[in-house]
Amino acid sequence: MQNNTLIQKYNVPGPRYTSYPTVPYWDEKNFSSEKWIQTLQKSFKESNKREGISLYIHLPFCESLCTFCACNKRITKQHNVELVYIETLLKEWQLYLALLPEKPIIKELHLGGGTPSFFSPENLTYLLENIFSKAEIHSEKEFSFEGHPNNTTREHLQSLYNLGFRRVSFGVQDYDPKVQQAIHRIQPLENVKKVTDIAREIGYESISHDLVFGLPFQDLNKVKHTIKMTEVMQPDRIAFYSYAHVPWIKGVGQRGFKDGDLPSGEEKRELYEKGKELLENMGYFEIGMDHFSLKSDSLYQSMLNRKIHRNFMGYTSSSTQVMIGLGVSSISDNWYAFAQNVKTIEEYYQKVNNKELPVFRGHILSEEDLFIRRHILNLMCLLETRWEDGIIQKNYPEIIERLREFEADGLIELSENSLVIKENGRSFIRNICMAFDLRMMKNAPQTKLFSMTV
Ligand SMILES: C[S@@+](CC[C@H](N)C(=O)[O-])C[C@H]1O[C@@H](n2cnc3c(N)ncnc32)[C@H](O)[C@@H]1O
Ligand code: SF4
Repeated sequence: MQNNTLIQKYNVPGPRYTSYPTVPYWDEKNFSSEKWIQTLQKSFKESNKREGISLYIHLPFCESLCTFCACNKRITKQHNVELVYIETLLKEWQLYLALLPEKPIIKELHLGGGTPSFFSPENLTYLLENIFSKAEIHSEKEFSFEGHPNNTTREHLQSLYNLGFRRVSFGVQDYDPKVQQAIHRIQPLENVKKVTDIAREIGYESISHDLVFGLPFQDLNKVKHTIKMTEVMQPDRIAFYSYAHVPWIKGVGQRGFKDGDLPSGEEKRELYEKGKELLENMGYFEIGMDHFSLKSDSLYQSMLNRKIHRNFMGYTSSSTQVMIGLGVSSISDNWYAFAQNVKTIEEYYQKVNNKELPVFRGHILSEEDLFIRRHILNLMCLLETRWEDGIIQKNYPEIIERLREFEADGLIELSENSLVIKENGRSFIRNICMAFDLRMMKNAPQTKLFSMTV
């Protein structure tokens, strides 16, 4: 089948599989804070000594609204919000520490947002020193943060480096002035180059740039231009995200574009194909979905040694069984269960000050969920998955039936005990994972929940 026909056929709304089950399919009725705590304690006991834990800290403030953004954020120029928020994060950390039987060993730490670099270097240091004072730090720690090129300073980079951070990702999106204006994010190349150079000079080992395709007014020339600008800086990793257009969740306020200004499904796919070709010519390797890395970067190495993992932040080069998410809207994962914190800062303050975990929903994974989760993770990370004794054929013929269609379209190789996604099936990885998504199969969405897969 022609590529265009395949794109038309498979460009449907679908999850990005940063978790399984995906958030809209969480069984909230069967979830409670008590169950979250029980599964957390079990998982922590099983894994803390062996591999440590991960911490995700959500820092939601941004000074200016980018109108394409799907993240949880609060726009403000008032920096007096920083300390109140930090004190609440420390109280939440204390609530978790009181539940754990021994000191957690922090292996991975990620500061995400919003904009972590909205906070002053002094305040970030204060936050992290207090978090660390109640924990041990793993000898192979991996600490990373998201920085906005317009407000990340040398002091930010140096302070976080001193605390053990060796990875940073900068939001770039696109260098074209018209696109930047439409998404309300004016950010010249000089700003990105400056922070990238300083991070390198200080000694950061992995610098990543976030680019987005499918933004308003983007065309092939603009994507080429953005990638050419990126080449000058040679970031170790590049996230090349598909623009998730979810106005029914994020609203249309202050947008500098109309839906008609967005590239169509086919045009959008061409932008991706062109970007991929250019990045590969520059020596980058495609990792899973949306990500590229140089051979020297740990993400590439982790793909080779099969340690690569995918979670709510995207791909990581290693993982732990327990990930605690602190802060407004953060999602925690203890492998047996997910839990999400309340989504507004006001509710977050209220719950934590009340000495309650600020969790408002979650999901306890069944045996079947754990089985499917493993296969979806394998596909998203390694583009292949294996099983024993034809167990999927025996127990889940409906999955095989759905996979037959991808096989007929030449996108996968399916055998008694394995599924391998072929090179031309890569673009449809989300659709292929959907074939395994039993929860979605049993209960097809009545309203639009997900962005388009292509
Ligand atoms: C929290 S932001 C990065 C840090 C900082 N706030 C900044 O903007 O530079 C995380 C990244 O998510 C990506 N992103 C946000 N909204 C998106 C959307 N609707 N579709 C695809 N990617 C998106 C952007 O590439 C952005 O850089
Ligand atoms: S892209 Fe970054 S800076 Fe812009 S609104 Fe989203 S989180 Fe804030």
